[in-house]
Amino acid sequence: MTVELRTSSVDETRCFGETLAGLLSPGAVVVLIGDLGAGKTACTQGIARGLGVEDRVTSPTFTMMATHRADGRRGISSFLHADLYRVGSGVEADDLAIAELVEDGGVAAVEWGDIAPDVLGRHRVMVSLRFGDGDDERLITVDADEAMIDQAELDSALAPWRAS
Ligand SMILES: Nc1ncnc2c1ncn2[C@@H]1O[C@H](COP(=O)(O)OP(=O)(O)OP(=O)(O)O)[C@@H](O)[C@H]1O
Ligand SMILES: [Mg+2]
Repeated sequence: MTVELRTSSVDETRCFGETLAGLLSPGAVVVLIGDLGAGKTACTQGIARGLGVEDRVTSPTFTMMATHRADGRRGISSFLHADLYRVGSGVEADDLAIAELVEDGGVAAVEWGDIAPDVLGRHRVMVSLRFGDGDDERLITVDADEAMIDQAELDSALAPWRAS
């Protein structure tokens, strides 16, 4: 199922991310796609908030991955934030081991995940962000498999941001 959304501020994108986090189970990998400045990190910050992460979440500029402690809600005890922009498409699954890291009670958010889709494992939620009209509008597409997120739940949780 694909849900089309619109946000009008960075805070709204964070709130969307926080709500999305409430639909995730351990093992989920959120793949964030979009141009520079589209809001991938903003969305990630919201997801972190929705998992009870207390660390400040920033762009993992020099490291390509950061791991944060989540508070255990819904069985999610860790949050992995990766950014493949500088890593490039040559990265090997073994180097990142995202799927293994989330297997044990984790959730991951991977910015620029489309650069190297093979490293992401199977339990993906795709979030694509693009620029809308005006500086602060973003159009967001969420794609999640039935097996990952109950579709009716997804639809109603994200209703506040639905693009009409
Ligand atoms: N509706 C919106 N949603 C998200 N960000 C917004 C929105 N409106 C304005 N912004 C601004 O756009 C920028 C988004 O930056 P962010 O770092 O989240 O993008 P990014 O996609 O992670 O970029 P990069 O590819 O460099 O990692 C921020 O400066 C934010 O304040
Ligand atoms: Mg970013």
